[in-house]
Amino acid sequence: MTKRRRLIAGNWKMNNTIPEGVVLAQEISNHFERDYADHLDVAVCPPFVDLKPVITVFEFDRTDIAVGAQNVHWEPKGAYTGEISVGMLKDIRCEYCIVGHSERRELFGETNEEVNLKAKALISGGIKPIVCVGESLSMRDSGAYLDYITAQVRAAFAGIDAPAAASCVVAYEPIWAIGTGRTATPEQAEEACAAIRVQLSELYDQATAESMRILYGGSMNEGNADLLLAMPNIDGGLIGGASLNAKSFIKIIEMAL
Ligand code: PGA
Repeated sequence: MTKRRRLIAGNWKMNNTIPEGVVLAQEISNHFERDYADHLDVAVCPPFVDLKPVITVFEFDRTDIAVGAQNVHWEPKGAYTGEISVGMLKDIRCEYCIVGHSERRELFGETNEEVNLKAKALISGGIKPIVCVGESLSMRDSGAYLDYITAQVRAAFAGIDAPAAASCVVAYEPIWAIGTGRTATPEQAEEACAAIRVQLSELYDQATAESMRILYGGSMNEGNADLLLAMPNIDGGLIGGASLNAKSFIKIIEMAL
């Protein structure tokens, strides 16, 4: 079995102006010990306008923290007012891009088909998609949540072959745990992440599924990260609220070492 390198990714959502984002990036950079990067991958996903300034902070400091976007459009260019292309992200050295976050699905009507188009465009452009899946509270209560999550995975990866899938990250984020302070228990998170891995092994093969990173997201913080990260199928975290505080974010990174 391949030993997967953990990934701790901060999702800043729609927070931090450029000056605020630069200050946060600088604080994270200052507390980031060089040898952390020997053990795991770290990324932050700021709003579009903050991407370049945040990348500049990490590059200037030679801090091994990657930067990701929170959304992208699948077309390479053209009359798509308000959208950002994969090429634009690649040009400023974005390494990751979140796709299919539940807030985009719920508030902006992003569909499984769009998530799939975005993932494919990112892979072609050499950016690693962080594909988010996760169920609502009513779906969990219905008992059919694993079927729902695995269907989201199948839809997101439709037409993507094994070598391309291997560059992707999946994030399991139960909607009822996002920004609510109500974390999934380690057992609940593990059950879903394990089911996602089984689905990936059915879509591809065991080796590909074992090599792919599956993150947990939803009120992960310095108080619960260690137990979540101890689960065999949880390879890191997608962290919202707690990633807006440099000390909390660094503590979670240290728990993942
Ligand atoms: P949260 O957000 O950590 O604030 O719950 C996680 C996410 O939505 O990615």
